Amino acid sequence: MKRTVYAGNVHSIHVGEYITIKGWVQKIRNHGGVLFIDVRDREGVVQTVWHDFLSTVHAELLLNIKPEEVVEISGYVRRRPEESINYQIKTGEVEILGSDIIRISSTLPLPFEISREFQLDELLRMKYRYLDLRRESLNKNIIFRSKISKLVRDFFHGNGFIEVETPLIVKYTPGGARNFLIPSRVFTGKFFALAESPQIYKQLLMIANFDKYFQLSKCFRDEDPRSDRQIEFTQIDVEMSFIDQFEVMSLVENLLGLLWKEILDIDLPKPFKIITYDESICRYGTDKPDLRYSLEVLDFTTIFQHSNIQYLKEAPFVGGIICRNASKTGRKYLQSYDEYLKSYGGKGVKVLKLDEQEKDPELFTALKTKYGMQPGDVLMVIGGEKYRSLELLGLLRKKIIEVEKILPDKEFELVWVVDFPLFELSKEGNINSKHHPFTSPLVEDIPLFSTNPLKMRAQAYDIVINGVELGGGSLRIISPDIQQELFKTLGLSDKEIEEKFGFLLKALSFGAPPHGGIALGFDRLVAILMGEESIREVIAFPKMTSTYDPLTDAPSEVEHQQLKNLHIKVED
Ligand code: AMO
Repeated sequence: MKRTVYAGNVHSIHVGEYITIKGWVQKIRNHGGVLFIDVRDREGVVQTVWHDFLSTVHAELLLNIKPEEVVEISGYVRRRPEESINYQIKTGEVEILGSDIIRISSTLPLPFEISREFQLDELLRMKYRYLDLRRESLNKNIIFRSKISKLVRDFFHGNGFIEVETPLIVKYTPGGARNFLIPSRVFTGKFFALAESPQIYKQLLMIANFDKYFQLSKCFRDEDPRSDRQIEFTQIDVEMSFIDQFEVMSLVENLLGLLWKEILDIDLPKPFKIITYDESICRYGTDKPDLRYSLEVLDFTTIFQHSNIQYLKEAPFVGGIICRNASKTGRKYLQSYDEYLKSYGGKGVKVLKLDEQEKDPELFTALKTKYGMQPGDVLMVIGGEKYRSLELLGLLRKKIIEVEKILPDKEFELVWVVDFPLFELSKEGNINSKHHPFTSPLVEDIPLFSTNPLKMRAQAYDIVINGVELGGGSLRIISPDIQQELFKTLGLSDKEIEEKFGFLLKALSFGAPPHGGIALGFDRLVAILMGEESIREVIAFPKMTSTYDPLTDAPSEVEHQQLKNLHIKVED
């Protein structure tokens, strides 16, 4: 028989109809003479009911049916008796009066139960991902992901964008994320790389006159996976010509506004908030501020200059957070914050409470009058180099929110972070691009290339949601001379610039339009919309945190001959 309707879509409109469903046995309940079999497919679950089944030709099969076997069931749809209506599920008002059943496929014993949502071992989930994907929550996420990608594509097509696929096997370029390398079989000793993003190609598409480009593009970065990072992920990649930064930002606001409305039925207030990089670092200790919480980092440098706490008195910067009405104020408990920061390489944190005011009355009076400190509040301060201290205070802010179980003021807080520095100093003391080397500096900062590049600001913008960086973009350099100057600032020699980026510099000399764009992390976007902590929950086949794939047991060794063809020798 042909399937007439998805099991999960059987509804009161089908009452009285003879239908056929095909799917997996979810649950079996034998109530003596009556047997209930719940059947699941991608749309949901429906109850089938078998009266006097022992006297039917299907008795043998019905007595032996097992969960997760694949079946075909036919029967009349009827309304359930009032007392057994289940309003929790889509099909809860009806049931199928079973009259015919075929076992299409049997199953081995399962490594875990599918029908119940419960915490499962990660390795087991990944090894049997195809079974994990049968579970309701994951199944729903993957179906929503598909809906969201359609909404995104329709949005861009509706706004005059052209979708272009760019190469995934590309030239290796230094800087940026760590690349996956692909040895060339034809060109001995030479390598391709897997694209870390379509950045250069989308700029070339602007030079080629496409004007508005977008792509849902796969990107590859050889970095350690985390809850918001995979080595293989998807970007909504966008580039536009003849625009300014605000046009890109407004486009993204319209896209996110549409998605929040369609998926969550939430009206996002527009325009989104904007905060400068400097302000974000000073007030929240991070360039990815979670603005759902009002808790802020405060500058206590002047106040502590008059204190009798020697090391804070002498510190070039003292910053702190007042934890209002702290839930626990015992010494031992507060020490856990100290240990936490030490685990991040900090020197720890000084904790002050008003009941200690006799130690330094002047300091405590200032804290009371200037910052409204009350009994029960706890002040945590860090002294030292300003930006390192702010970084630690950013971590401390997150920890306080978590430990104190502070409730967010709203469900979603979206903010643009702008005016990023163009460069940053690496731990080794090298100048690196803060975003990527194609980001345009502010025009008025161009003279700083030769005097103080670390002071240069970029025409770049990040969109942050609830403390997660969803996307980043910028206006691009279109002058070959400025592009060359920037590569030199990064320490590349003329020869290296020509070898690695000569093609781009040449392209920029053939009539490049002013252009800019952005890329949003699609996996992160879907995870946020589905309320998931980890992007693994919205990717059908993700890698584990170690980059290992237990499903296919990848990565794996390859035959000696394969390596030989590539002229590769593996050293111990
Ligand atoms: P960027 O490197 O900031 O910018 O990446 C854009 C967005 O992609 C997502 N993302 C990731 N998601 C999952 N796993 C990862 N490993 C990962 N890395 C990044 C983030 C991030 O904000 N070419 C530029 C964009 C541009 O300038 O137009 C770029 O790739 O959500």
